[in-house]
Amino acid sequence: MREQYRTAPLLEADLAGDPMNQFDRWFTQAVRVELHEPNAMIVSTADADGRPSSRTVLLKAYGVRGFVFYTNYTSRKGREIEANPAVSLLFPWHAMARQVIVSGRAERVGREETAAYFRSRPHGSQLGAWASAQSSVIGSREELAGAYEELAARYPQGEQVPVPPHWGGFLVVPEAVEFWQGRENRLHDRLRYVAEGGGWSVERLAP
Ligand SMILES: Cc1cc2nc3c(=O)[nH]c(=O)nc-3n(C[C@H](O)[C@H](O)[C@H](O)COP(=O)(O)O)c2cc1C
Repeated sequence: MREQYRTAPLLEADLAGDPMNQFDRWFTQAVRVELHEPNAMIVSTADADGRPSSRTVLLKAYGVRGFVFYTNYTSRKGREIEANPAVSLLFPWHAMARQVIVSGRAERVGREETAAYFRSRPHGSQLGAWASAQSSVIGSREELAGAYEELAARYPQGEQVPVPPHWGGFLVVPEAVEFWQGRENRLHDRLRYVAEGGGWSVERLAP
């Protein structure tokens, strides 16, 4: 399983002026080569004692503000973010010998933005957000299915499901973003944008 990465270099001169535009370039390329779920990213959080935890979530929006994902605010990740907003995001684009690593701070998005996204989800996913107390220990699969059935009876298809107060978006405002491009002989390119006085500086890291 030892791969040689024969890919185009990532040079300072080719970088966009800011990391979100550079991310947009790479994300667009990942979509163009039909990478499987390029918006799947690993979100790492840490509790108040610094104990880390990671999980995959889907990136639902990105732009000048940063990166947005949706989840249950009372989940493990949600509680950890409340205690410690420092997070890391990792996009593992292995098929392109690329990864993007973001470190930043997570904050809740506004309720209107959450409501607009919630309403765009399929009816079943809307009910699922109510049915599951994400990250809590449950007795059985049946318990979960039962909760879903009750909700499905209360809110049949076509009826508007209210936005759960415990569910919504997090915006991750980047403080540093690393673009990693695999190269031959493990001499990979690693260019990292670091927020500096309202702008960005770029540094090259040893692979
Ligand atoms: C491909 C993929 C996409 C996922 N997307 C989300 C998501 O967008 N939001 C979410 O809350 N969980 C998502 N999950 C489930 C999470 O990985 C995780 O199980 C859940 O959020 C509970 O995490 P926690 O207990 O660490 O808070 C996804 C899982 C996979 C494998």
